[in-house]
Amino acid sequence: MDTVVLKRASKTYHLDSVGVSALSDINLEIRSNRFTVISGPSGSGKTTLLNIIGCIDRPDQGELIVAGQDVGKLSDDAVSDFRARHLGFIFQTFNLLPVLTAYENVEYPLLLSRVPAAQRKQRVETLLEAVGLAGKGRHRPGQLSGGQRQRVAIARALAPSPQLVLADEPTANLDSHTGQAIISLMRQMQRDHKVSFVFSSHDPQVLAAADDVVKMRDGRIVSIQRRDENEHVIEDCAL
Ligand SMILES: Nc1ncnc2c1ncn2[C@@H]1O[C@H](COP(=O)(O)OP(=O)(O)OP(=O)(O)O)[C@@H](O)[C@H]1O
Ligand SMILES: [Mg+2]
Repeated sequence: MDTVVLKRASKTYHLDSVGVSALSDINLEIRSNRFTVISGPSGSGKTTLLNIIGCIDRPDQGELIVAGQDVGKLSDDAVSDFRARHLGFIFQTFNLLPVLTAYENVEYPLLLSRVPAAQRKQRVETLLEAVGLAGKGRHRPGQLSGGQRQRVAIARALAPSPQLVLADEPTANLDSHTGQAIISLMRQMQRDHKVSFVFSSHDPQVLAAADDVVKMRDGRIVSIQRRDENEHVIEDCAL
């Protein structure tokens, strides 16, 4: 089953009574348990598309199904609840809470979803270990490097066992060496946790690691390339 199905989705922003078409007529299926990258020039609609897939924003028209749920049928409150239970987010600037330690940042979404204390502790410790930060749980974000902060953000996104993790340009603020290490870690997390990852990125390193690459231009999808486990191209269509 596909994790995300978008049908004929459009989004127009209104600025001073002028309409800016950010997405038009998007049809997209995102495969489960795969690493999908949305690429394209600045202003092509990548962030807008991610925000819609992440249920942060709604399309003006069209249908969005995430993890089998028709999101358009949910109230705003129900969408927030759905997001907390099924989706994880990694932000470009990491967005960690500065007053909390690395441990507490990862624990935070579990507190929100009322996971019992013993289970929380185990989950946070397992995740910090998995992202290579077992010894750094007591550090606050200001006491960590950029790459380490991004690792905390990955652990936090995975904490509630989401079906889908979204990230907008996750390597944009990292040097290429740290970026490569973070991509390998995300790839490994994606496989180990059986979760779908959807990123926007211009970074050639991120594109090289992807299973599926969706290219956008002017608010439309212009091509989709899908690869199998052996990196053979199984679908390559220009739209
Ligand atoms: N809140 C907004 N109000 C008005 N127009 C917007 C808004 N957000 C985005 N846009 C416009 O929608 C279009 C798509 O923007 P979007 O941020 O999705 O592009 P992007 O592909 O993520 O670009 P970048 O690579 O620079 O991040 C652009 O023309 C942008 O100016
Ligand atoms: Mg963007």
